[in-house]
Amino acid sequence: MSKVYAVNTASAQKANINREEYAALYEFSIRDPETFWSEQAKKYVDWFTPWQNVMDGDLQEGNIRWFHDATLNVCYNCLDRHLPEHKDNTAILWEGDEPHENEKITFQTLHEKVCQLANGLKSLGVKKGHRVCIYLPMIPQAAIAMLACARIGAVHSVVFAGFSAHALRERLIDADCSVLITAKEGRRGGKTIPLKDNVEHALQKCPCIQQVIMVDSPDKTYLDCKTLMDSMPKDCPAEPMQAEDPLFILYTSGSTGKPKGVLHTTAGYLLYTTMTFKQVFDYQPSDVYWCTADVGWVTGHSYLIYGPLSNAATTLMFASTPNYPDASRIWQVVDKHQVTILYTAPTAIRALMRDGDDYVKKTSRKTLRLLGTVGEPINPEVWEWYYHMVGEGRCPVVDTWWQTETGGIMISPLPGATELKPGSATLPMLGIEPALLDEQDKEIQGPGTGKLVIKKPWPSIMRTVYGDHKRFLETYLKPAAGYYFTGDKANRDEDGFYWLAGRLDDVINVSGHRLGTAEIESAIVSHKAVAEAAVVSFPHDIKGEAIYAFVTPITGITVDDNLMGEIKARVKHVIGSIAVPDIIQFTSDLPKTRSGKIMRRILRNIAHGELQDFGDTSTLADPTIVDALIAQKPALK
Ligand code: PRX
Repeated sequence: MSKVYAVNTASAQKANINREEYAALYEFSIRDPETFWSEQAKKYVDWFTPWQNVMDGDLQEGNIRWFHDATLNVCYNCLDRHLPEHKDNTAILWEGDEPHENEKITFQTLHEKVCQLANGLKSLGVKKGHRVCIYLPMIPQAAIAMLACARIGAVHSVVFAGFSAHALRERLIDADCSVLITAKEGRRGGKTIPLKDNVEHALQKCPCIQQVIMVDSPDKTYLDCKTLMDSMPKDCPAEPMQAEDPLFILYTSGSTGKPKGVLHTTAGYLLYTTMTFKQVFDYQPSDVYWCTADVGWVTGHSYLIYGPLSNAATTLMFASTPNYPDASRIWQVVDKHQVTILYTAPTAIRALMRDGDDYVKKTSRKTLRLLGTVGEPINPEVWEWYYHMVGEGRCPVVDTWWQTETGGIMISPLPGATELKPGSATLPMLGIEPALLDEQDKEIQGPGTGKLVIKKPWPSIMRTVYGDHKRFLETYLKPAAGYYFTGDKANRDEDGFYWLAGRLDDVINVSGHRLGTAEIESAIVSHKAVAEAAVVSFPHDIKGEAIYAFVTPITGITVDDNLMGEIKARVKHVIGSIAVPDIIQFTSDLPKTRSGKIMRRILRNIAHGELQDFGDTSTLADPTIVDALIAQKPALK
């Protein structure tokens, strides 16, 4: 039996939804989704003109549309509508890499800056539907750039600043971006991130880019962002957008091929992120909300920028790491800015837990009332530490399960409504109907383990893979006909609570970063000395999963530390530091079936240190390879 924490009565007193309301509303949202979503749409979003249909299309065909024909603007919802009442409230609270670097931006100022950049983009010829790439560190200009695009109907594609020149170029070309907004450099954890060098490298073979705007470097070669903005009026009308007009593209890794440009549209995404932000974080007007995610990932889109700002919340944007200059930084920031809601990743909590309780205890944290996690499973003992040590048993922990593709949180406790079980993401959001499928794709009833799928479209489901609708259908809608296929495995217990149990495909999750093993393999084999590579993950105390690469050099190559270093550098060059293997094992061959298929199961066993039981190996072309791999396995550090 897993441990259960009852609904926290202190937090329940002012919660947005209580237990009975959740149960009744959930039942209603599934029984009558049209009415449910129509009511939510009126409650959470300001529309320019109303819709004809709440939803049309289905998960068979993938032609999903929400609020078709309505018009609205996401930026208007995040800024303009708050000005009458909240113009002097802080919208963005920025904490730089060094503790003395701080900035407060009110809704009024943010509105002006966004309008100026929006006008600046227009002056460069950017129009509705054009793609603008944003490659920036965690600075307010990243939020300003996203909102400016949304204001004029340009589609942004934010590329995480940790990605390499090669990865940036690939994304610029795939989305056919005409403008790039970037910076000379970023600072994180005391280190410099050389963005401009990457940009220059990326642009060498990137004809689509016509303008580069630099936010921090007056340089003759590029447009200076400040000069551009200063010359522009502080007002810019928010473009009326159709509900299904694209809002942004965000690249994410899959099990095969190059990263996919996940496309989200306007109305459904805004409604869903606005509603779930309010409900999951139990947002109240006096809260100071801090999501530690980078803008380069979906959490940074939905719950650092759009969800909070649409709710007129104060969102803290943090440019550093939780443990710089030391492991109490995160808690010091909480105290300094009187943070009430903290949303972070299990990998960060594990690292802070390892550093010891003293760093936590020397801070107050008394303003905190809610804690959240996202991106990977949280081990129950880490959950308990977060709950007891950080939150002193006072703050509910919301373990939120969702994906880049889902746009917003799909399974999570609602504070005040849901009992908590450490390690479980608990129950579905309103309007979300998950199911578990068995091997035959039959729905499992009651408790069980299976493929996690979603039964009906929800407003923020991705609409397509940019430029490749077939891939969207094949990856998400065909694997289990009639359902949205998540790629995750899950258990459901006797109370209907969901427990995520890892991926079903070759996607790995390193420190909450999603990586495709195929992507890393192709980066490794792009080294001239490599003939073949196979990448698997292995459990890691801090990162959750770490990367183990089996590499076969071409005949005649001497294997040494030098080659190992070169291969790591190659991966860093092609993707970025986040994808560099923790372990490289050289091998003269890989375990393959007689038809030439690599038996990854065997490689996983070896990487996990499970060296005894390999199951059925009779289909291997050369069974002796397994013994050789075991004998040469490097010691885990
Ligand atoms: O495997 C699940 C894991 O992260 C994947 C989605 O990754 P990404 O698109 O990068 O989005 C991460 C932030 C939303 C999922 O398919 N995952 C995400 N949240 C959880 C999780 N696994 C377990 N528990 C979670 N709370």
